[in-house]
Amino acid sequence: MDRIIINGGINLNGRVKVSAAKNSVLPIIAASLLCPDECFLEDVPFLDDVEVICSVLDSIGASINVIKGLNKISIKADNINSTEPPYDLVRKMRASFLVMGPLLSRFGRVKISLPGGCNIGTRPIDLHLKGLSALGAEVSLGHGYVEAICNKLKGCKIYLDFPSVGATENIIMAAVLADGETTIQNAAEEPEVVDLSNFLNSMGANIVGAGTDTIKILGVKDLKGTTHQVIPDRIEAGTYMAAAAITQGDVFVENVILEHVRPVIAKLQEAGVTVIEGQNKVRVISRGLPRAVDIKTMPYPGFPTDMQAQFMALMSIARGTSIITETVFENRFMHITELKRMGADIKVDGRSAVVEGRNRLTGAKVKATDLRAGASLVLAGLVAEGITEVFDIHHLDRGYVDIVGKLRGLGAKIDRVGE
Ligand code: UD1
Repeated sequence: MDRIIINGGINLNGRVKVSAAKNSVLPIIAASLLCPDECFLEDVPFLDDVEVICSVLDSIGASINVIKGLNKISIKADNINSTEPPYDLVRKMRASFLVMGPLLSRFGRVKISLPGGCNIGTRPIDLHLKGLSALGAEVSLGHGYVEAICNKLKGCKIYLDFPSVGATENIIMAAVLADGETTIQNAAEEPEVVDLSNFLNSMGANIVGAGTDTIKILGVKDLKGTTHQVIPDRIEAGTYMAAAAITQGDVFVENVILEHVRPVIAKLQEAGVTVIEGQNKVRVISRGLPRAVDIKTMPYPGFPTDMQAQFMALMSIARGTSIITETVFENRFMHITELKRMGADIKVDGRSAVVEGRNRLTGAKVKATDLRAGASLVLAGLVAEGITEVFDIHHLDRGYVDIVGKLRGLGAKIDRVGE
C-alpha cells in the first residue's frame, strides 16, 4: 500500500489549479443513464470514485469512452442489459446508490445492494427511499438489497426531513421522467445539486429552483444527449486554501467559483488570514499563526462538513481555543486520534471537539480513516516538525486529483511511496 511522506515546515507559495468536483461528476454520470443518446462530460476529475461509478454503469451495459489526456468522457446508455448493478462495485462507494433514481425512472425497476462509503456514520438511505415511494415506486428491503419497481412514476410533493444531498439528487433523477410535477421541499441547496440540474435541463428536463430549498420538476417524456462542463471542486479549493493558511504561505488557488467557497473564506478571514478575491481565483496569504475560531458544520450554504477535518488541523496550531461542532454526520471525528499523535490537543464532547491551539505539531506515522480525514493529516504534516507518514491513502485517491503533485508544485516536500 502506498503512503505519503511529508517533511514539514515549508511555507507554500505559487499557484494551484482546482480540478472538477467529484461530488458533481458522480451524480451526473449516473444521470447519463436517463437517455439512450451519448452524453459528453468535460473537465472530468479522474479519481478512484469516478472509476467506480463508471464501472457500475459499464457493468449494466453502458458504453463509457474515456479520453484521459483531455479530461473527457462520454457515456452511451443505449444498451442497458441489467438493472441490478453488482454488489462488489456498489459496496465500494456510497454514491453508487445514485443510479437508483435513473434506473427506476427509465426502466421501471432497480435492485441494488445497500451502499458502502466513507466511514463517517451510519448514513441511512431512508430519505432516498421515502422519496421514491412517494413517487409511486414499490420499495422493498431484504438480504442487504433494496429493490424498487414501478409502472410509471407520478409527480408528487416530497418533504425531506433533512436536506440530504444524495436523496435530493436521486429524487430529481427519478422525477425528471415522471408524469406531472414533483416538488421537493427542504431540498439540499448544494452547488452539486445545481450542477446536476443544469446537466439534466440541458438534456431536456424541466427543473426549476435548484439551489434553493424548493425544487420543482415537471416530468418530460424523454431526454436527449448533451455536453456538459462540470463545476470546480469547492472542497478541493478549500483544502488548498487551508494548506496555504496552515503553512503561513502565499498561494493563488485557481479555478474557483467564489460563491461556493464563501463559508471557507469567511472563516479564514475570521482567523486572521488574508484572502484576496480575483476572477475565478483566490489568493490566500497567511503571516503568523491563525486565531482560533469556532466552526459549526451545516448544509450549504453553511460551513461544509467536508472541510471540518481540514479546519481542525488548522485550528490545532491556532492561537486560542476553538470549538468545532459537527452537525451533519454523527461520527466524523476519526481524524482526532491521529491529529493527537502529532501533538494536537483536542477533546471530544459529544458532537463538538474542543481544540486547544498549540504552536507546533510534530511529525508522526498516521492513518487516513476517510477521505477528508486524510486531507487533514496531510495539512498537519505540512506544518509539523520533522517527518509525517500518512498511511491508507487510498482514501485520498477517492477525492483528490494528484494531491502530492499539486502540493509539490507549491514547494512542499512531499512524496508518495509504494511498499
Ligand atoms: C454528500 C457528499 C459528501 C458530503 C455530504 C454532506 C457526494 C457523493 N457526497 O453525501 O461528500 O459530506 O453530501 O454534504 O455528494 N441522511 C439520512 N437519510 C438519508 C440520507 C441522508 O438520515 O436517506 C443523513 C446522513 O446520515 C447524514 C446527513 O443526512 O447525517 C447528510 O447526508 P447526505 O446529505 O445525504 O450526504 P451524501 O449525499 O451521502
